[in-house]
Amino acid sequence: MTTADQYVLVTGANSGLGLGTCCRLIDEYLASPQAENGTLTIIFTTRSARKGSETLTALEKHLARHGSSKSDRKIYFQPENVELTSLLSIRALSRKLFASDLPHLNAIVLNAGIGGWSGLNWPLTIWTCLTGIRQATTWPTFKLGLVGLVTKPQFPQDYFAGEEPVLGEVFCANTFGHYMLVHWLMPLFRASPAEFPGKIIWSTSIEACGRHYNPDDHQGLKSSGAYEHTKRLGDLLALTAAQPATAKSVNEYTTPSLLVAGRSRPEQSEPMFLDSHPGICTTTIISLFWIVHEFYRLGIYLARWCGSPWGNVTAYLGAASATWLALASVTDIQAKKDEALGATSGGPCKWGSSVDRLGNSYIRVTDVEGWGLDGTGQPFKDKWWGGSLGRKTGSTDATEEDVESFVAQGVRVWGKMEALRTDWEARIEKYEAEHQGESNGHVSES
Ligand SMILES: NC(=O)c1ccc[n+]([C@@H]2O[C@H](COP(=O)([O-])OP(=O)(O)OC[C@H]3O[C@@H](n4cnc5c(N)ncnc54)[C@H](OP(=O)(O)O)[C@@H]3O)[C@@H](O)[C@H]2O)c1
Repeated sequence: MTTADQYVLVTGANSGLGLGTCCRLIDEYLASPQAENGTLTIIFTTRSARKGSETLTALEKHLARHGSSKSDRKIYFQPENVELTSLLSIRALSRKLFASDLPHLNAIVLNAGIGGWSGLNWPLTIWTCLTGIRQATTWPTFKLGLVGLVTKPQFPQDYFAGEEPVLGEVFCANTFGHYMLVHWLMPLFRASPAEFPGKIIWSTSIEACGRHYNPDDHQGLKSSGAYEHTKRLGDLLALTAAQPATAKSVNEYTTPSLLVAGRSRPEQSEPMFLDSHPGICTTTIISLFWIVHEFYRLGIYLARWCGSPWGNVTAYLGAASATWLALASVTDIQAKKDEALGATSGGPCKWGSSVDRLGNSYIRVTDVEGWGLDGTGQPFKDKWWGGSLGRKTGSTDATEEDVESFVAQGVRVWGKMEALRTDWEARIEKYEAEHQGESNGHVSES
């Protein structure tokens, strides 16, 4: 084990983009100079031991294509289980990793997620696909979202006697569960070497727009767009994390609070927050009858051939941005940004997985409503046939006021997330104090 060894955690790895990310991590790491001096350990989570072992088999098979022998092995896998709608399950995984020999975490890809949709509005699907395939497949308006989905109670046997607040299921699976996991794993990110600080990579979506986040309904419980709401939350959290106005909340969040007996680690770096999205891929996140699924796939191919840079179709192509961010150094990320936008003093970008008509994969800076390309108001330049390439119809460049209000919303979001975190932590600590030593893989606190 050397400081050149890398450790990357990927959530929701048994299917779709999570599996694609793990496969792509293998390929890109082995093709990089980093593989000459170190190893990569991919810690991947699924929701059951069976899914974990099936995923391990799939990853070993993928690795075997590279033909490495046992003696020159460069990639290792570590299956773990977590249910992101259960805070106790997240706590158990955090304690397990924290108490293990894992020296640090270089990156986490916050990939797992659910849609919370019941189906499609068929007339609207057909109409929008026939009249504008690129926009319809990239910014669909026809998904039917379920309203008010909540998680199971967090504590057994009605521990808080009917007083336990509800947690939105889509909110918890996509955002809050990950938010808590990252916080509880914070000592591992902080133990990353300074040249490779711990990277927290939110997997958001090209679809998320300003109207999707409603601050009066922070968990998206009253919204039929709870999914898009959580994805906008990811944008707000990642893109505003380095703003002076969010510093108080971000400092509290990045200060470790979970004390676990076990290996102590040095504090070597401050974690960094990054925003990624996979473009559009056909996965099981939306449940469709197989023939409909095939039409959906064809629709995304058509969008790609008609010029959409986001029509990735496969999870492997969709995994490009998260994989690149997980392995890139801070200098690589800055260089890519300078290459795309010129050397500006702007803030972070939302990095998307993009594809050309022939299926060549590349990383592309994505326009974010209210933030623009990097929070400087820099104009969107990619034009194609009189329209904007890879941008939602009707989008405009973010003005100074737009960016100010985006940051102000980021401040409120960070504040609300921190309030929710401390509120639930207090409940969990009370519960754990009374149930010390019981299951969930807990180890005693020092
Ligand atoms: N597909 C796209 O075009 C697209 C576009 C934009 C963003 N994304 C994002 O990409 C991510 C992956 O989605 P996908 O398309 O690859 O979908 P997917 O194939 O359905 O994969 C979702 C993964 O998340 C896991 N998961 C779901 N709920 C969980 C929970 N409560 N706790 C722990 N794990 C949970 C699933 O596990 P199980 O198998 O056990 O359910 C599965 O491994 C999501 O965050 C999604 O929002 C996808």
